[in-house]
Amino acid sequence: MLISKKMNVAINEQIGNEFAASLQYVAIAAHFAAESLTELATKFYQQAEEERDHAMRFVKFVVEAGGRVEIPAVVAPKSTFKSVEEAVKLSLDQEKTVTEQVNRLVELSISSSDHITRNFLSWFIREQLEEVSSMENLLKVVQRAGENNLLYVEEYVARHRGRLGSVRISGEGSSE
Ligand SMILES: [Fe+2]
Ligand SMILES: [Fe+2]
Repeated sequence: MLISKKMNVAINEQIGNEFAASLQYVAIAAHFAAESLTELATKFYQQAEEERDHAMRFVKFVVEAGGRVEIPAVVAPKSTFKSVEEAVKLSLDQEKTVTEQVNRLVELSISSSDHITRNFLSWFIREQLEEVSSMENLLKVVQRAGENNLLYVEEYVARHRGRLGSVRISGEGSSE
């Protein structure tokens, strides 16, 4: 086994966190779809798939490293939202929490001189930078538009689709 028992346990926990994030995005996407916000719904269904992919990356890594995959119980997502802003704010908070979780895994890999896991985690570090910045940007757009101008948000999301399903900060602003 290439990873320690402790690291194996920690990654199993993260598999649960990524699946939980995926379910939360499904719940948010379904809420947007029910509100006829189809662009936001599409974006969040995509996000849900990305989180599932993150969970699967961890699953495959554990197997490859000779560990044991044990998927923990996943907390139920929040399914009702008073506003689009509330749902996007929850998404941003979730991405920040996941960033902390990934940071803790990196710290464990460093303290145990586990360079295999440390190297594997660098993809997630880059991914979290993108996820947090893209969600921060979406929240700003939602706040600027206000709940009465959600079609502006829809248009914005539609225009930025295809960039890994995310909204990037760099190189924007002048076109807004
Ligand atoms: Fe993730
Ligand atoms: Fe994410």
